[in-house]
Amino acid sequence: MKNVLIIYAHPIEHKSRINRQLIAAVERMDGVTVSNLYEKYPDFFIDIKAEQELLLTHDVIVWHHPFYWYSAPALLKEWFDLVLEHGFAYGREGKALKGKWAMNSITTGGRESTYQAEGMNQYPIKNFLLPFEQSAKLCQMNYLSPFVVFGSHLLSEINIEQEVKKYWALIKNLRDNRFDVNFLQSEQHENGLCWNQNNLIT
Ligand SMILES: Cc1cc2nc3c(=O)[nH]c(=O)nc-3n(C[C@H](O)[C@H](O)[C@H](O)COP(=O)(O)O)c2cc1C
Repeated sequence: MKNVLIIYAHPIEHKSRINRQLIAAVERMDGVTVSNLYEKYPDFFIDIKAEQELLLTHDVIVWHHPFYWYSAPALLKEWFDLVLEHGFAYGREGKALKGKWAMNSITTGGRESTYQAEGMNQYPIKNFLLPFEQSAKLCQMNYLSPFVVFGSHLLSEINIEQEVKKYWALIKNLRDNRFDVNFLQSEQHENGLCWNQNNLIT
């Protein structure tokens, strides 16, 4: 069994339709820790040592957030800037995260069709997540395909329930080490297929 750490950043959680439900579905699962950054650090003063301790005691790190301005809410960026220190996360002596698994879990306002060459956003979602992917790689972590819920404003309650079930299954599979590493290194993975489309192991 792996310990899963979900680093959750949502600045206006009381208005959330979807992320709140995704998080609620997994926060009481054995082996899963949800670290709610905006709840812990409303003033942005991150406890660096405490955050590094959390990383050390978990095997899978999930950056979970609504997609804001083609990236993450500001406090998650602050977390990257302060917590992933040289000598801890990267650099000659920085091996604390080596071999751990990392992924993004995001919700977007834009529909999937907008994240294509012909769409309004022009590029696939995977391109916008490159800073996360490359940061994980710099820290010698294995980066997994993201979990993405597109077009979140258009989803009915039933659609949301389906996404919540997929997310629950994904986190459980990660915890139970039931994911297909070969798939993650395959061409399909390189094409940016998302966990919530075809490759959930149920
Ligand atoms: C400040 C801000 C920036 C946003 N930027 C984007 C964006 O770049 N791309 C996108 O598809 N949606 C964007 N959205 C829409 C959010 O991703 C969407 O509201 C969120 O995923 C809904 O999740 P929630 O119901 O949990 O709040 C943005 C929303 C806000 C408030």
